[in-house]
Amino acid sequence: MTDSDKEFKDPLDRFLDGEEGVSEFEELYSFLPADLSEHNSWAAVSRIEKFLGEIQKHFESEEETVFLAVETADAPEDLKALVARLRKEHKEILERSAMLKELLSEEVFPMDDEALGKANVLYELFKGRLLLHAKLEDESLYPHIKPYLR
Ligand SMILES: [Fe+2]
Ligand SMILES: [Fe+2]
Repeated sequence: MTDSDKEFKDPLDRFLDGEEGVSEFEELYSFLPADLSEHNSWAAVSRIEKFLGEIQKHFESEEETVFLAVETADAPEDLKALVARLRKEHKEILERSAMLKELLSEEVFPMDDEALGKANVLYELFKGRLLLHAKLEDESLYPHIKPYLR
């Protein structure tokens, strides 16, 4: 199996199934291509677009399960504040994802150097933000939410 055949499996589902040691950061890091140069064809870029859709689904189900559970429970204030911050980050990441999606949908493939450069800047911004977000959830959210899930 080559890297680009790899299917993205949502780490949240595994976490909710009770699997131990799930790291969103590691999963995302190993799944995301370093840059878009190896995805400079319509077929290859569709994997990125599919992934952007998966991220949207992940955020929605995270908000409906984990975030809501903390918000409606008698949880410590600092955990509630963290969830409020993470919700805001979801919005920002989805905005970047939408910009990237829009740009890719307007391109013809293979992209020329200028378009590829532009797409890569957007991709880097999206990826950087997403990975920092996943790291924060790994370190500060997921280790503390079990008592609030039902
Ligand atoms: Fe999240
Ligand atoms: Fe997450």
